[in-house]
Amino acid sequence: MNFFENYIFRWLSIILVWTAVDADAFTPPGRFRESSTLVGNRLYFFGSQIIAQQRDNIYLDVTLSTLNTTNPSWFMLIPIPAKFLLASSCVGGPNKNTIYLLNHLTTSNDYSNDTIVYAFDTEAATWSTPNISGQIPLSRQQFQAVNDTNGKIYMFGGTQFHNISISSEVIFNDIYILDTLNLTWTQGSNVNAPTPRVDFTATLLNNGLILYIGGTVGVGIIYMSEIPTYNTNNNSWNTIFAIGDTLNSRSCHTAVLSPDGHIIIYGGGIRDSTDQSQVLASLDTTVNPYKWSIKPMIGSNLPPSLKYHSSDIVGNFMILAFGVMMANNSFLNLTNVNSKIYLLDTRNYTWVTSTSTSPNSSHPQNPTVTQIQTVYSNSLSTGVIVAIPLVLIAVLVIAGFTGYWFYKKKKQNDIIRISGSI
Ligand SMILES: *[C@@H]1O[C@H](CO)[C@@H](O)[C@H](O)[C@H]1NC(C)=O
Ligand SMILES: *[C@@H]1O[C@H](CO)[C@@H](O)[C@H](O)[C@H]1NC(C)=O
Ligand SMILES: *[C@@H]1O[C@H](CO)[C@@H](O)[C@H](O)[C@H]1NC(C)=O
Ligand SMILES: *[C@@H]1O[C@H](CO)[C@@H](O)[C@H](O)[C@H]1NC(C)=O
Ligand SMILES: *[C@@H]1O[C@H](CO)[C@@H](O)[C@H](O)[C@H]1NC(C)=O
Ligand SMILES: *[C@@H]1O[C@H](CO)[C@@H](O)[C@H](O)[C@H]1NC(C)=O
Ligand SMILES: *[C@@H]1O[C@H](CO)[C@@H](O)[C@H](O)[C@H]1NC(C)=O
Ligand SMILES: *[C@@H]1O[C@H](CO)[C@@H](O)[C@H](O)[C@H]1NC(C)=O
Ligand SMILES: *[C@@H]1O[C@H](CO)[C@@H](O)[C@H](O)[C@H]1NC(C)=O
Ligand SMILES: *[C@@H]1O[C@H](CO)[C@@H](O)[C@H](O)[C@H]1NC(C)=O
Ligand SMILES: *[C@@H]1O[C@H](CO)[C@@H](O)[C@H](O)[C@H]1NC(C)=O
Repeated sequence: MNFFENYIFRWLSIILVWTAVDADAFTPPGRFRESSTLVGNRLYFFGSQIIAQQRDNIYLDVTLSTLNTTNPSWFMLIPIPAKFLLASSCVGGPNKNTIYLLNHLTTSNDYSNDTIVYAFDTEAATWSTPNISGQIPLSRQQFQAVNDTNGKIYMFGGTQFHNISISSEVIFNDIYILDTLNLTWTQGSNVNAPTPRVDFTATLLNNGLILYIGGTVGVGIIYMSEIPTYNTNNNSWNTIFAIGDTLNSRSCHTAVLSPDGHIIIYGGGIRDSTDQSQVLASLDTTVNPYKWSIKPMIGSNLPPSLKYHSSDIVGNFMILAFGVMMANNSFLNLTNVNSKIYLLDTRNYTWVTSTSTSPNSSHPQNPTVTQIQTVYSNSLSTGVIVAIPLVLIAVLVIAGFTGYWFYKKKKQNDIIRISGSI
């Protein structure tokens, strides 16, 4: 190679390698009141209360052989068409790989009277706003929706505080079912429905029962032992009474179902109490009646007490991310916002730093250019921002040598791939 070829190839390889490293090293800033959904080995997080992240669509690679708390692999994707916070996302669609966001904000960031559904195709990495027929629910926030494995999403409760025709907020106790296979909303049963509530959790058991745990109302107390259930087999409400440890009432916690049939709850705001000794608890649903146990915090890398965070199950592990630290119970001070992930081995309620049983398990290959092409750059990814001038310089240099390149009849594939990555 002569000097000019060397010069250009050097620039190209520096930029390619550098962008690849950046995509792998992306570290999302802390956030809260986001929503999370698992598809395959990607755990997606949508939105935040923090303004700069309200349209964020990021994912964590949760491949169990490499997942660890010290160096998690984060990627950023094309942003949500609208701001998204205090709301819920679920999986459905014909291929069980489309994520549906149930939003109350329009793309112009106005409150909507009707629930708006934004759909993210995780294969194509594209957003759409499908037209949905049927009984469209009034929009709402501060609810958790849950999906089954047949493409149905169940949306219960929440509040529409922006209803302009009344001065106070409306809290709902209705339940709506979105069939993502034929894109139709239907209203579920309201016979024996529980009282209206917000900031509860919704967990679907393998027997078809959705358990609505905790939450809060304007007036009155929601007891942790008194759990409304929605039976998805015959669309009927019931209330079950759990035994075992007495838990303080709470809201803004998280709940996941472990593979061995325990609903594990974490964090939340505890009513009339700063006592965080019950931050981790589990409801055994394999016994009748269901039974609560408060779990001690043991292991390494214990999480702080959090609310407005996310929890998800991957294999035997609960992955906890983001949220607001309760030490100083204020999310107005961003110092209190968590940016880390934590891992709980649900087999023995031990916090761990890695999901890998063998410390020498094989590592993933370096990220490829194909992966980088789906990565969206915005102000959060400072590395990509720095990459733009580098690429511009490279393009100028390349332009200067166009005649030379033409003469040499070199292929331009690398250049095309680089511009695709920005
Ligand atoms: C943590 O995971 C990252 C990403 O998969 C990997 O590169 C790194 O080697 C892992 N670190 C440890 C200590 O396992
Ligand atoms: C929302 O509903 C209110 C009250 O029913 C109505 O006045 C308003 O026009 C509606 N807004 C839109 C965008 O439809
Ligand atoms: C939804 O319906 C409207 C009006 O009928 C139409 O203009 C739009 O293209 C439809 N969108 C989709 C995604 O089908
Ligand atoms: C939600 O849907 C996905 C895709 O079908 C499925 O893997 C998951 O188990 C469903 N969640 C529940 C709680 O059934
Ligand atoms: C506003 O609240 C009133 C009273 O609860 C209700 O009748 C009306 O349907 C609500 N309108 C909207 C758009 O939510
Ligand atoms: C959509 O499917 C559900 C069953 O999941 C059915 O009850 C409903 O009638 C269907 N709607 C349309 C418009 O086909
Ligand atoms: C729904 O099924 C449950 C459990 O089989 C049963 O106890 C309940 O009575 C049924 N409800 C209705 C309305 O059919
Ligand atoms: C909480 O706030 C108080 C007073 O502002 C301060 O003294 C204390 O150090 C803070 N605690 C933490 C854990 O940040
Ligand atoms: C925010 O919280 C941190 C730690 O809790 C504290 O050191 C800092 O002074 C607080 N900042 C404000 C503006 O309150
Ligand atoms: C928890 O269970 C896992 C899997 O059985 C095991 O590898 C680990 O050593 C256990 N941890 C403790 C502290 O017992
Ligand atoms: C992991 O690798 C280190 C260094 O290569 C070696 O000393 C150790 O025995 C290995 N551990 C296992 C469990 O294979």
